[in-house]
Amino acid sequence: MNLFETLKKKTPALPEKYRSHTDEELKTIVRHVKQDMGNKLFLPGHHYQKDEVIEFADARGDSLKLAQLSASQEDAEAIVFCGVHFMAETADILTREDQHVYLPDMRAGCSMADMADIHQTEKAWSLLMDLFDDTILPLTYVNSTASIKAFVGKHGGATVTSSNASGMLEWAFSQKQRILFLPDQHLGRNTAYDLGISLDHMAVWDPITEELIYNCPIEEVKVILWKGHCSVHENFTISNVKQVRSDYPDMKIIVHPECSREVVELSDLSGSTNAIIKAIEQAPAGSSWAIGTEMNLVNRIIQEHPEQHIISLNPRMCPCLTMNRIDLPHLAWSLESIAQGNPQNVIKVESSVAADAKKALNRMLKRA
Ligand code: 13P
Ligand code: SF4
Repeated sequence: MNLFETLKKKTPALPEKYRSHTDEELKTIVRHVKQDMGNKLFLPGHHYQKDEVIEFADARGDSLKLAQLSASQEDAEAIVFCGVHFMAETADILTREDQHVYLPDMRAGCSMADMADIHQTEKAWSLLMDLFDDTILPLTYVNSTASIKAFVGKHGGATVTSSNASGMLEWAFSQKQRILFLPDQHLGRNTAYDLGISLDHMAVWDPITEELIYNCPIEEVKVILWKGHCSVHENFTISNVKQVRSDYPDMKIIVHPECSREVVELSDLSGSTNAIIKAIEQAPAGSSWAIGTEMNLVNRIIQEHPEQHIISLNPRMCPCLTMNRIDLPHLAWSLESIAQGNPQNVIKVESSVAADAKKALNRMLKRA
């Protein structure tokens, strides 16, 4: 289900009392429920979550780590996912039937995941099969709906995350001659380029015009990139890079691979949220960095590394509005409603979709 479909289903709104509680009262609710439920409750938090939420996370991580951790929580009866919708769906797919996954605010979607819907994908696949016969393996970034993961799983493909995309692309090329990469053109392009595939051999599929855009003889197309992007990372631009280079000639620039090819090319390093955190941790005191990723994470890294000079690559800072929907009032509501036996915002992927999506996820997890 994409964000639009989720919203159409009319999800319950945050009860007024959670808006009028003070932060201290909300924190007390969270602490009490966590204490009472012990390891029957697991609270994963993505690196892009607000500090007020991360403070209570049992684990923080990138999307790969959180998927792996959710799958290994034997004792947890309730998983309250502090991240976005596709991450909670992934947790539901990977956990047992008797474990329940909740998202504190159903409006926490991902605009990139919503850029590939299943009807567009099935149509594209049939047109691409006409052009290329059975030579394509589909791969999807985990930032996609469960239906897209299921589509990919059904056609022999796998999911990827920003921390394993390179290995997954290599695996995909051992299976088929070409790859269809959904839904983020930038992660697909950056990863394929690093593996030595020239930009000329990458085509772009536009799901709106249903057109394939390519610059080489069609039989030489190796990668078909779905025309999707992250609306947060597209806000890091070439002019931001040039400004940093001119203001701070010694500063290193590190960006997430959801940034455009041009921005990644001009930066010093690129990597997943985990890779960014590690690079800063391993850098000597006194080094200076401009980071091109979501604002909450950049601010947290700045606070945790006073020994380094760190700024955002974009001085206007780029928040992920949907990640930010998970806040302390929603977390307290979610936990208290579980404790009172009236849980809200359950994430349940339909079993036929979940079965195929799991194939795609497992092909990745086996290699991660
Ligand atoms: P990671 O896989 O690096 O956690 O990134 C997820 C994401 O949504 C980045 O925008
Ligand atoms: Fe989606 Fe971009 Fe937000 Fe990540 S940062 S959750 S890709 S909208």
